[in-house]
Amino acid sequence: MSKVNVGVLGSGDVGKSFARAFAALGNEVMIGSRSPEKLADFVASAGANVRSGTFEETAKFGDLIALATLGTATTEVLRLAGPQNFDGKVLIDATNPLDFSTGAPKLFIGFEDSLGEQIQRQLAGARVVKAFNTVGNDLFYKPQLPGGPPDMFLCGNDDAAKKIVGQVCDAFGWGVIDIGGIDGARHLEPMCIVWVLHGIRSGSWTHAFKLLHQAK
Ligand SMILES: NC(=O)c1ccc[n+]([C@@H]2O[C@H](COP(=O)([O-])OP(=O)(O)OC[C@H]3O[C@@H](n4cnc5c(N)ncnc54)[C@H](OP(=O)(O)O)[C@@H]3O)[C@@H](O)[C@H]2O)c1
Repeated sequence: MSKVNVGVLGSGDVGKSFARAFAALGNEVMIGSRSPEKLADFVASAGANVRSGTFEETAKFGDLIALATLGTATTEVLRLAGPQNFDGKVLIDATNPLDFSTGAPKLFIGFEDSLGEQIQRQLAGARVVKAFNTVGNDLFYKPQLPGGPPDMFLCGNDDAAKKIVGQVCDAFGWGVIDIGGIDGARHLEPMCIVWVLHGIRSGSWTHAFKLLHQAK
């Protein structure tokens, strides 16, 4: 991928993994939070090209934006960030509409809509690509798995944006499976539940999806 300013919205483990990965590739990174000061230790450890900011500052800073916020808080975070600050930009949507209120993982949106589609509707000027939601963040960057590079499933309405996110996936060490428009998020968001259920049953969290093809 060519070097860009990356805005990472989200101060949790996923946001930090994105920030470290984009910084490791030489990009300038801002990681966003309602309370950017709480990221001081992280920023100090992450290297000279990582700083923190408010959600609004981070959305303005990023030419490319990665969204890594709590599913139920995402609408509010984008309101705080200012929808106009996303116009024309590629947004990687890694969120999942997870609901653990009953103990078992469920989705709070589906299956006639998805969080990815809601985000694209809220940010009408952005080029939203759902990606990085089907795997744990420990494996985002250069996963070393015995079966070789895993595949990142992605979807979005803008082919040029998906090409850019495909280059990000390649730089992070992933193959790419494009499943179509942003309505494909209805199917990629439940894949996160499959990933979680396998983790619970196996007691291991080092797995990732790969699509295998018969040799031509
Ligand atoms: N865990 C994984 O490995 C993994 C992998 C792929 C995708 N995902 C998805 O990635 C997303 C991020 O996950 P995470 O575990 O890193 O973090 P998280 O705890 O789900 O979300 C943290 C972020 O949400 C914001 N937030 C929480 N409540 C808020 C509220 N009421 N108003 C405004 N902002 C609020 C926090 O803001 P502040 O910074 O201001 O506190 C913070 O930036 C989730 O949608 C998750 O499903 C997770």
